[in-house]
Parts: sequence; structure tokens; C-alpha cells
Amino acid sequence: MKVDLTGKVALVTGAARGIGKSIANTLAENGADVVFADIDFEQAEETALEANQTYGGNNKSLQMDVRDSDQVELSIEKILADFGHLDILVNNAGVNTLAHRVNIDQFPLEEWNRILDVDLTGLFIVSQFASRPMIEQKHGRIINIASVAGIMPLRLQCAFVAAKAGVVNLTKAMAIELASSGIIVNGIAPGSVLTEGTKELFYGNDAKFQESMRNMLSHVPLGRPAETEEIAHAALFLADPETSYITGHVLVVDGGWTAGYIRDF
Ligand SMILES: NC(=O)c1ccc[n+]([C@@H]2O[C@H](COP(=O)([O-])OP(=O)(O)OC[C@H]3O[C@@H](n4cnc5c(N)ncnc54)[C@H](O)[C@@H]3O)[C@@H](O)[C@H]2O)c1
Repeated sequence: MKVDLTGKVALVTGAARGIGKSIANTLAENGADVVFADIDFEQAEETALEANQTYGGNNKSLQMDVRDSDQVELSIEKILADFGHLDILVNNAGVNTLAHRVNIDQFPLEEWNRILDVDLTGLFIVSQFASRPMIEQKHGRIINIASVAGIMPLRLQCAFVAAKAGVVNLTKAMAIELASSGIIVNGIAPGSVLTEGTKELFYGNDAKFQESMRNMLSHVPLGRPAETEEIAHAALFLADPETSYITGHVLVVDGGWTAGYIRDF
């Protein structure tokens, strides 16, 4: 898929690796100037440099913790000082837990707060500061990375499930509030995605949770996880200037996982 994003400036959070890196690279490949923002600045810087070498353009990196409203405010100011405008925001930064796969009665409050702070409150903070210049410009695109877990709950992940359900409804709330300012807001709900992290835990030959992953994949009609590029192409579709009448939508990209039961009864 090819889209002309020449002249557009995009901010992608959590862009140092994984899905965020793939989305940022895809936007850069299609002509946008991309700001690779991440709490891990060293890795974000390396990833942005790589993008410059591969795709050209004026891609930059920023140290930005989405939980830190002062840092987010300064980051948006810096983007406006460097580029003069901000056209696309991809709220991708997110965390989950593996250490605490337990029922709600045992789920630690600290872990609940850690996940909600990044996945939901962080997304709210970045959206708040990024939407202000977009309102002034009278145009903008916001793409929120949710999860199938925010649409159909998974067991033993109550904080992630609640945070991502919050992202799904917040996406719709933002869409109806910001539409009159020319801002289009959509979400993507990925199923299981092959990243360095999930390779190590689930998909690699020595992965610790291989068995539970095989079990999970048996419920996915396409029978495999997504490549990060398959999520990035959904983001590119939602960033395309021609996709101008879709707002408040959460696009499920899950290999059919939530389409229905794959078992016969
Ligand atoms: N991988 C999957 O299977 C999957 C499935 C559904 C949804 N998602 C969602 O996709 C998004 C990306 O996931 P991923 O698998 O690529 O994760 P990842 O762990 O590979 O990358 C996440 C990136 O976010 C950064 N980050 C973490 N906390 C941050 C913070 N406070 N501020 C700024 N950056 C921060 C990390 O440094 C990292 O670079 C997340 O929102 C995740 O919930 C992932």
C-alpha cells in the first residue's frame, strides 16, 4: 500500500521498537517526517537514524514518557518549533504484565496502576497536548493502538483489558469531540503480534510460554500472529488523507480471532 504523506509531520509514541517502530517506519517510508518518541531514548534515536538512512526525510527522536505531562508538553512544543505543525499522532506506547497473570482478587494494585498509567492515562495526556495545535490548524489525525483485549476480555489480565477498553471508548469520545475541529480519531485493535518481545516469550523456539500460545492460536482463524507491518498498514490506511470519512472507528486486525467461535458445537 502506498500513500502520499509528503509534508505531513507524525508523532509516534513507543516508536523505539515493536509495533510502534513499524508504524513510524511505514509513515516515514510514505513521505511523512516522523518523530520517534519513546521512554527509551537510546533505542528511539537508533531507530530514527535507521529510518533516515533507509527512507530519507527528516525523522527525529525524542525522549518522552507518556505519563509525564510536563515532558509531553515540552515535546509537543519542540515538534512545533522544529516543524511548525503536527498532523498525525499515533498513540502506541503500552505495557502489559506477565509476572502477574492472576485473577482479579489477587491482582496487585501497583501493577494495575502501572498499566493504567501508561496505556490509558498516558494516551490521554499525549492526546490532550497534541490535539491543541491540531485544533488551531483545524486538521489532524489521531490513531490509538488498543487491543482485541479491549473489545473481548481475556482472563488474568484485568488491568490491560480495562485500560484497552478505556482506549476503545476514549477513541470514540475524542472522535465526537474533535470532529468539528477537523480532527479524525480512530483506533486499531491488534490481536497477537510478532515482536521481539512476543518472540522471546511466546513464538521463539526456546519461548517459555509456547504451549499457551499454541492454545491461543488454535482460536485464531488465520492460525498465526500478525507481522508488525500488518498493523502498520492499518495505521497507514487510517493516516491516508483520502480516508477522510472514517472517524470514531476501531479497526480490528486480529486474523479473525474475535469474528466468532472457531470450534464446532
Ligand atoms: N504485541 C502484541 O501482541 C500486541 C497486541 C495487541 C496490542 N498491542 C499494543 O501495541 C502497542 C505496542 O506494543 P508492542 O508489542 O510493540 O510493545 P513493545 O514492548 O515491543 O514496545 C513498546 C514501546 O513502548 C515504549 N514505552 C513503554 N512505556 C512507555 C512510556 N511510559 N512512555 C513512552 N514509551 C513507552 C517501550 O520503551 C517500547 O519501545 C501497545 O499499546 C500494546 O498494548 C500489542
